[in-house]
Amino acid sequence: MFGMVYLQAGANLERFVVITTVLDHAADDPACVPATCRIGLLGLGTIGAAFARLTRDAGPHLSTRGIMPVASIALVRSASRPRDAADDVAAGVTDSADVFFTEPLDVVVEVLGGVEPAYTLVRRALDRGIPVVTANKSLIAAHGEELVTLARRRGTSVRFEAGCISGVPFLGTFERRPLASRASAVTGILNGTSNSILTAMTSGVRFDAALADAQRLGFAEPDPGMDISGRDAAEKLSILARLFGRVLLDPGTVPMEAISAIEPEDISAATAFDGAIRPLAHAAWAGATVRAFVGPARVTGVTNGVVIESAGGTQCYTGPGAGPAVTAATLMDDVIELLSERRARTLTPEPAKAATDVRRPDTSWFLRLTGDARRSDVADLLGSYGVWCTRVARRGDRTYVLTCAANTSRVAAALDAVRAAIGGTATAFPALDGDAAC
Ligand code: HSE
Repeated sequence: MFGMVYLQAGANLERFVVITTVLDHAADDPACVPATCRIGLLGLGTIGAAFARLTRDAGPHLSTRGIMPVASIALVRSASRPRDAADDVAAGVTDSADVFFTEPLDVVVEVLGGVEPAYTLVRRALDRGIPVVTANKSLIAAHGEELVTLARRRGTSVRFEAGCISGVPFLGTFERRPLASRASAVTGILNGTSNSILTAMTSGVRFDAALADAQRLGFAEPDPGMDISGRDAAEKLSILARLFGRVLLDPGTVPMEAISAIEPEDISAATAFDGAIRPLAHAAWAGATVRAFVGPARVTGVTNGVVIESAGGTQCYTGPGAGPAVTAATLMDDVIELLSERRARTLTPEPAKAATDVRRPDTSWFLRLTGDARRSDVADLLGSYGVWCTRVARRGDRTYVLTCAANTSRVAAALDAVRAAIGGTATAFPALDGDAAC
């Protein structure tokens, strides 16, 4: 059943002249017209602006999922401040919560940050049965359990995938595997800002310059002390402990050390020991007992993500941790997931394309050779085909070789020549570095 036609004076009419449907009814529509999803934005700062832009840019792609998102209205602290992003919001901005809640909304996306007024406004949305998607870890760390309970009581939901390593959407994945997801510990790099600072310091960049870069890229919190002190990571750790361990962990009780405790010499020493200094967050729980810390630690490998010890084994999720674009995309994915459940029955899938060019990537290679493969001869022969060796080792009657990244067809040609020369076999396996294989 179609609902009203939704127009907004002053907005780009072409963009916003859409047939708005009530989503529950739209699910019964056999024609499967994309249902307009009217989104109310709480906040229009860096993340909110990226999200508003995404509702416009991703519309054509998302309509293939049966949903056409529209940023209907944004509630901001000061409506008089000029903002480019206001052009991407159909009814523009308001600083009145009452005006905001008079708009018909299908979803509220909260990107204000901080506990208040976000808490009061999110409660107000949920009380009206409007689902909420948020990137606000402070809010979820402080009131997550209560808000989820309220949402359930009102027959709606609150999602916060973007609140915890927004570029690594693992909360939903984990949640959908109830048997495998009984975790006992999490360890990870949960704060992108401190990770980027320590990584930059490893290349000789000064702390202040690295922090300025993180701020410029939109990784850092409005108060970067939240990132540097470890508080941001402790809040995320608390969310994970509640979700995966069903343990309520007050972020203020987690032992924390600021990354500003690290000096350049510490980083050099860790590198000399084949490691790196990274901002880690760890919690392991058993009943009401939690062992946890947040702060810089020496690690081998640089896993930007989270490792979860669970009944399903050790799982590792990696990816970018912060930034307006990834956070906006994860917020939108939460919106789509929330609404897709109702649309799934009538979806016509996007047409699939046939793959016409499928081949191996150009990786490094791990070679196993049998026959008379003397080390220097093999390395020279491979090198003559542009396949450069980094390690060669003889083990029993076999020779193992590790190469730099090399084109597959060159490797194939090189191996033919090696087989002929050694009178034995030559087998190649791709070689990936530890993090990529994780
Ligand atoms: N300031 C946060 C970080 C943003 O650097 O990880 C994403 O939560």
